[in-house]
Parts: sequence; structure tokens; C-alpha cells
Amino acid sequence: MPAPARPDDGDGAAVLRHLAIIMDGNGRWAARNRLPRLAGHRAGVEALRRVVEAAPRLGIEVLTLYAFSSENWKRPAEEVSDLMGLLRHYIRSEVKSLNENGVRLDFIGNWQALKPDLVSLIEEARALTGGNTRLTMVMALNYGGQDEIVRAARALAADAAAGRIDPAAIDVAALAGRLDTAGLPPPDVVLRTSGEMRLSNFLLWQAAYAEIVVTETLWPDFNAAHLMAVLDEFGKRERRFGGR
Ligand code: FPP
Repeated sequence: MPAPARPDDGDGAAVLRHLAIIMDGNGRWAARNRLPRLAGHRAGVEALRRVVEAAPRLGIEVLTLYAFSSENWKRPAEEVSDLMGLLRHYIRSEVKSLNENGVRLDFIGNWQALKPDLVSLIEEARALTGGNTRLTMVMALNYGGQDEIVRAARALAADAAAGRIDPAAIDVAALAGRLDTAGLPPPDVVLRTSGEMRLSNFLLWQAAYAEIVVTETLWPDFNAAHLMAVLDEFGKRERRFGGR
């Protein structure tokens, strides 16, 4: 298969269009600062604000953020409830300024299964910001890569069973078109903070050719300077997409 066309900035260097982030380390940050875990997640929201503000200035078009995984339900009920509360608060308090700043807010994962008030907030945020083009901010909520692929496969199987598509015609593009990320470019970089070297069920399909960047910085400490370091690191990588 030919390498997908990549944009460049005119001197041949690849442009980091889509950055996907596993925002890890809130709990360790809280422990290091002798604070409850909730304080770590709150500080994580501040880091999120900083990155969303800096990203479009650095030429990033899409930011995908792993905010709550389909496995995070295994955490103690109090922490799950704290994270949902932060999410609710974040959307309510930020959506107006995100909209004013040209940010389109979108969501991947099985977010329709969240509490009805959160689903309504998400639907309102999508409707309000749907026409914005400066930055697309995608929040992965109740998201698991395996679950996303299963849902896409089920949709294709239903189409095949109903005679709407020929199973032999199912290809990479057909499956990609049924994923939650349909229409978005694949991530150029998957960044994980706080040193762990795992994908943790994040963007399993989409990350096929993504550069993986792991930083030791704990997510709550992450700032625009760290983001610039990620861009520098990306600039040094040689991307071949399976070619030579
Ligand atoms: C990982 O830290 C982070 C999460 C499980 C959730 C990410 C959430 C945020 C950045 C804040 C919430 C943002 C919104 C808008 C809801 P961890 O708790 O796994 O850290 P640890 O591995 O050090 O314990």
C-alpha cells in the first residue's frame, strides 16, 4: 500500500497535525505533593487547559485526549465519581471560551452510556462548537480501542447481513470509516506522560504508524515548553510508513 500523503511545512519536515495524549501521572503527582488523588486530577485539568491553549499556536490541528478509559470503571467508586464531576465541571465551565477560541469539541468512546446529564452536556458542546476549525479537541470518554473496533466490526456485519455491503468489499478504509474517529487524520504522535511505555487500549487501530513519545513528566506538571519538546522530538523521527 502506498504511504499516506503527509503534509510538510515546505522544507520537507513532517508537520505534527494530530497529537494524541495519554495523560498519565495524576495520582503520582498527588502522592508526591502529599495531596489526595482528586487534587492530582484537578491539577491534570489545569495541564489540559495549558495544552489546549498552546496547541493551535504550535500548528497542531487535532488534539485527542484520553480522559476516561472503558477500564477506568474498575477504580474505586469515589474516584470514578470525582473524575465524572471534573468532566462535568470542565465542559460546563470551558465550552464558552473554547468556542470563542475556535475549538471544535468532539468525543470518542461509548460516551452515550454515561449519565444522561453528561450525555446532554456533550451533545450541547458538540452542537455549539461543531463549526469551529482552529483546533479539534477530541475527548476519549468511556473509550477502549478494542471496544471501538468491535463496535465498528458489528456495524459492518449488520450492513453485510442486511445486504447493504459485500463482505469481500470490506477493506481498511471501510473499517476506518466506522470507527469513532472517522474523518479525523490518524495521530502523528501518541504521547504518554509519566514514563510508562504502554498504549493501554488507546487508539489501537489509529496508532498503526504513530510515533510513540514517552516523557517522564507527570501530566499535572506538563506545560507549553514540554509540548514544544515533543514537537522537537517528532521532528527528529524518520517516518517510513512501512516503506524505505
Ligand atoms: C491518569 O492518572 C489520568 C486519568 C485516569 C484520567 C485523566 C484525567 C485528567 C487529566 C483530568 C480529568 C480531565 C477531565 C476533563 C475529566 P492516574 O490517576 O492513572 O495517575 P497514576 O498512574 O500516577 O496513579
